[in-house]
Amino acid sequence: MKKKKIIVGNWKMAPRTIDEAKKTFAGIKKTASKLRNVDTVMCPPFVYVEALALRVSGKRLSLGAQDSFWKEEGAYTGEVSSAMLHSLGARYVIVGHSERRAMGETDDMVSKKTDASLRAGLTVIICVGEQSRDQHGEYTKRIEEQLKQSLSQVQKKSLPNIIIAYEPIWAIGANAIRPASPEDVLEVSILIRKVLTNMFDRESSQIVPILYGGSVDAKNCGSFMNEGGANGLLVGRASLDAKQFSEILKVAEQSAKKK
Ligand code: PGA
Repeated sequence: MKKKKIIVGNWKMAPRTIDEAKKTFAGIKKTASKLRNVDTVMCPPFVYVEALALRVSGKRLSLGAQDSFWKEEGAYTGEVSSAMLHSLGARYVIVGHSERRAMGETDDMVSKKTDASLRAGLTVIICVGEQSRDQHGEYTKRIEEQLKQSLSQVQKKSLPNIIIAYEPIWAIGANAIRPASPEDVLEVSILIRKVLTNMFDRESSQIVPILYGGSVDAKNCGSFMNEGGANGLLVGRASLDAKQFSEILKVAEQSAKKK
């Protein structure tokens, strides 16, 4: 496993203007470009990808998108293909985010998007996570099912371009009950690694980074990496605040150095 941490900022449908996006991005870039042990990936709305990609220099900071469609081109009004995103400078894409699943995205669609994105040369961040927890561990079955279906078309040789983000729905966004605990994160990382080992093999499963996402902030971020064993983070709200996000990047740098 690479010792570098991967910190992904998911801006969702924000900020309101390109000027604001450029300003926040510039603030983040200042810190991200200095950190040797952190790969920073910013995922703005589609319409900002190109302008921000043009502001990237070096390999420490990259652009990603929050979704993409599985067809290469054609009569699919409103959709954006992975190849289009790649041509604008995006190198990553998030698929299967719970907010998209809530709008009807199925595991089968996630699988098709993953496959198309890999073919277009993007690294795919696949989100998995349960709606709620039960005492009998039924929720682990849902996570396992999501992983198996999302990765059903992925070949072993593509695993270096796969990232799994564990995002329990109950821990995400303004309605979150609470962030997951480092123990929750560790438990599910072990489960994810086990499912990957069964699907592929032990050695290949080790190269897939597992991130945690859900109410991550500058205060709690270290615990998910240091005690929770996460290889990085997927950050929503806190990634829109350049100062706070930069703090998270610095904590990740320290955490990578410890290992
Ligand atoms: P949050 O969102 O950090 O605002 O909880 C995380 C996500 O949805 O990716």
